[in-house]
Amino acid sequence: MNFHTRKWIKPEDLNPNGTLFGGSLLAWVDEAAAIYAIIQLENHRVVTKYISEINFMASARQGEIVELGMEPTHWGKTSLTLRCEVRNKLTRETIVKIDRIIFVSLDEHGQPAPHGKTRIEYVADRLGQPRAPHEQEPQA
Ligand SMILES: CC(C)(COP(=O)(O)OP(=O)(O)OC[C@H]1O[C@@H](n2cnc3c(N)ncnc32)[C@H](O)[C@@H]1OP(=O)(O)O)[C@@H](O)C(=O)NCCC(=O)NCCS
Repeated sequence: MNFHTRKWIKPEDLNPNGTLFGGSLLAWVDEAAAIYAIIQLENHRVVTKYISEINFMASARQGEIVELGMEPTHWGKTSLTLRCEVRNKLTRETIVKIDRIIFVSLDEHGQPAPHGKTRIEYVADRLGQPRAPHEQEPQA
């Protein structure tokens, strides 16, 4: 799982308890996941279809930094399923886990459209450029 997105917890992200507000966290997750899906499916017309059980495992406080990880788990015909984890950047404590966030690729009429993708693609490969170190295939 790659943790590409980092967020800094600010006063406006807190709940009345003074800890990270779940709604802010879910907005960050949905945006990071949508960006991941848009890049992988090469289509900016991508919508969130389904989010599975959300397990808030730990809290976080103002000033802390969290990182959001995404991993594709199923390439459908028009859909892409991602697994997500959010953790504290410095302690690696897991804050939330979501098993399935499903995005659907749409055509210009807003109808589901086959995306033709079956595996992770790297933008560097599409551009014929060398991959960055974190973009190497996992070793068996
Ligand atoms: C996304 C949308 C166009 C899909 O319409 P639909 O009639 O369900 O389309 P389909 O039945 O053809 O399903 C499309 C894909 O979604 C998957 N899907 C549909 N309902 C699902 C569900 N409840 N759970 C998981 N996957 C689902 C299907 O399996 C299919 O994937 P596949 O092609 O890879 O097999 C429609 O539901 C929609 O517009 N929803 C609102 C999306 C939105 O606005 N999101 C932002 C949040 S407000």
